[in-house]
Amino acid sequence: MRIMVLGGDGFCGWPTALHLSAQGHHVAVADNFAHRRFDRELGTGSLVPIEDLRTRLNVWEELTGKGIIPYVGDVCDYGFTRRIITAFQPDAIVHFAEQCSAPYSMLDYDHAVYTQTNNVVSTLSVLHAISRINPGIHLVKLGSMGVYGWPNIGVEEGWLEVEHKGRREVVLYPKRAADFYHLSKIYDSHNIDFAVSAWQLRDTVRCVQLACENPPEQGEYRVFNQVTETMPPVQVAELVAGCFPGAAIVKLPNPRVEPDDGYYNVVHTKLEQLGLQPHLLSAELVHSLADIAKRYAHRVRPELLQPTYDWHQAA
Ligand SMILES: NC(=O)c1ccc[n+]([C@@H]2O[C@H](COP(=O)([O-])OP(=O)(O)OC[C@H]3O[C@@H](n4cnc5c(N)ncnc54)[C@H](O)[C@@H]3O)[C@@H](O)[C@H]2O)c1
Repeated sequence: MRIMVLGGDGFCGWPTALHLSAQGHHVAVADNFAHRRFDRELGTGSLVPIEDLRTRLNVWEELTGKGIIPYVGDVCDYGFTRRIITAFQPDAIVHFAEQCSAPYSMLDYDHAVYTQTNNVVSTLSVLHAISRINPGIHLVKLGSMGVYGWPNIGVEEGWLEVEHKGRREVVLYPKRAADFYHLSKIYDSHNIDFAVSAWQLRDTVRCVQLACENPPEQGEYRVFNQVTETMPPVQVAELVAGCFPGAAIVKLPNPRVEPDDGYYNVVHTKLEQLGLQPHLLSAELVHSLADIAKRYAHRVRPELLQPTYDWHQAA
């Protein structure tokens, strides 16, 4: 297949592009390096140093003989998006090109506006370009579990059957986000739902290779919960602390508006039905990540891990 990964320089986009290329798909990536700009703006960075896109693509080609085509530009620029889709002629587009940090979206007015504009407009741009160039292109779009909040009933995969005053209806699962980033994802899901039904497109949320290789019917909006296990934050802390004798758990006041615990039940069966093998959080996995963290410990700035603002106050 020909697959275009938007946001291909990012945390999800880069490994997805390599994985798809390794599987034999023809891959192109597009990015405007916005995330690298946020890092410069905030004085933050990744734990592991990340080479620029061109260098990484050259290394991939040297190691595997497989080329990945890069496009540099802003997906919110409709002209750019139309040009690259026309040039590459993808069968599927994986759309990761969004501002994905909830804390960044909560910094102040400018960051909230940037996040919502970038995320909503980039998705509108892709939807319009697909419908105009080739409605058969399968869109794979990541949402985020944070859009659902903490409902007191199970989080179904996309749809909820409701009975109201003796009548039945199937509706998009109700969303209740707790920050401006996750709100942008809610707007995306409604825009996609509308465009898919109005223009007979094909969309899949929260899945990548399995979704690309198992497209839905034309005009179908399919939602997968890409989750294999859930646990409250304190249980994650206990699991990690248990791997390192003597490690202490420090409980900080919660700056966010989500509760620390309570009922949380996510339904996840559809990806497993397509063959997904769950990769659960184990002591072995924690140790393998800790080994990487130790190697790059000199790059860690612990002061940046402390919450410095309260989401209950508008900044
Ligand atoms: N990382 C996670 O754990 C996670 C969890 C749930 C959902 N997601 C979703 O996955 C997607 C990707 O997340 P990520 O963690 O890889 O983020 P990321 O910031 O590492 O990657 C996103 C990439 O998109 C690029 N980008 C942003 N806006 C763009 C635009 N307008 N035009 C072109 N490029 C643009 C950025 O420069 C960056 O390289 C997002 O939609 C995010 O909401 C991520």
